[in-house]
Amino acid sequence: MLASTTTNVAYIILFVILIGWILYAMGNRKKARPELGSEIELAANRKVYYDDEILEGRRLERVQFIGLLFLVVSVIGLPLYWILEPARQVGAKEYSVERATKWGAELFAPTAKGGFNCAGCHGGMTATGGVAAYAITNPNTGEVKAVSWKAPALNTIFYRFSVDEVVFILNYGRPFSPMSPWGLVGGGPMNAQQIENLIAYLTSIQLPRVGCAANEPDNRVCATGTLEPAKQQEITDAAMAAVKDGTYKSYGEALFNLDVGSGAYSCARCHTQGWSYGNPAQPAQGAMGPNLTAGATASHFPSQQDQINFIKKGSELGKKFGLQGQGSGRMPAFGNLLTDAQIKAIVEYVRSL
Ligand code: HEC
Ligand code: HEC
Repeated sequence: MLASTTTNVAYIILFVILIGWILYAMGNRKKARPELGSEIELAANRKVYYDDEILEGRRLERVQFIGLLFLVVSVIGLPLYWILEPARQVGAKEYSVERATKWGAELFAPTAKGGFNCAGCHGGMTATGGVAAYAITNPNTGEVKAVSWKAPALNTIFYRFSVDEVVFILNYGRPFSPMSPWGLVGGGPMNAQQIENLIAYLTSIQLPRVGCAANEPDNRVCATGTLEPAKQQEITDAAMAAVKDGTYKSYGEALFNLDVGSGAYSCARCHTQGWSYGNPAQPAQGAMGPNLTAGATASHFPSQQDQINFIKKGSELGKKFGLQGQGSGRMPAFGNLLTDAQIKAIVEYVRSL
């Protein structure tokens, strides 16, 4: 806002200066005309100049006065510039984020509105989770089947992944799923600026967090805050209900398979083959993420607490996890989404398989 005011003032000053120059040039041209060719009679440097009387009188005072004026301009102008510049920079930054968010929203919009249809699959402009039509080919028989594949809610994407990790997902997509690569590096249609605009838009639609530290004023992206307790309670309630109606045998199993937000809070989406399109194979035996059953991971996480801590933080590209694991950054962090009790129940469930 301030930036644009400053810009307007600068435009006015520029305009005034331009008009001044034009007037000066015109005046000068007029004055110069009778002098044309006069140096033929007498070279300019041989012309008799003003005598001391004139040079040291009002003329000198006038030149001194102009000097004083310039001094006043620097004395007042420099501090004024100094005062306004930080606000201008802040304004420029805010404006660029605002503009990127707006452009990102245009990319995110449904096809009918000229966007790339992220909204169409992910549950509208607020991305609360949806489904995508997809065709899967049976690797053994070659049979093709039409399915509805769950597209997770994205209004908690930065709870689960860092900005770099989301950029990776957008660039390369999820090769086994309806989520195609969008970045040029992954063979998609968008340049790095467009991916950045999408990140700005996704940031703007994050569910606000509670318990952010005082130095993290933006509660949509603060690292310390968690999902609102009421939302966490909804997850508990949904899981409890699924146990009660007999869909799942335990609270942990229900949480592992939770369908809230098209699986945005669940593990089965990545760890159970076929879960995303309603045809789950053996639970937790691995899909995009590895097999989690006791036999497969007991050697990676001898201690239950270590496994809980890993699930809270997720994996980071290149970083060690468990005993000998090395992260790819594709395992989300759940510490800001789920409560410790919820994560513990899930871990007890997978360790029992
Ligand atoms: C054809 C439907 C479709 C379109 C269009 C689409 N997505 Fe996706 N997207 C999916 C599906 C399905 C998944 C989940 C894949 C899986 O099972 O892991 C996904 C996953 C994601 C993820 C990872 C979420 C997570 O928690 O694992 C992000 C981020 C994402 N999409 C963003 C976008 C953005 C931004 C756009 C628009 C440029 C977009 N998607 C367009 C279907 C789609
Ligand atoms: C977006 C997909 C995705 C989701 C959702 C997901 N995971 Fe993972 N998970 C992975 C990937 C990929 C790995 C492998 C590590 C890596 O690549 O960084 C992994 C690794 C793990 C491991 C370590 C396995 C080992 O022994 O090496 C555990 C434990 C785990 N996940 C548990 C969970 C639990 C519990 C949940 C649900 C709360 C969950 N995951 C949700 C993708 C996912």
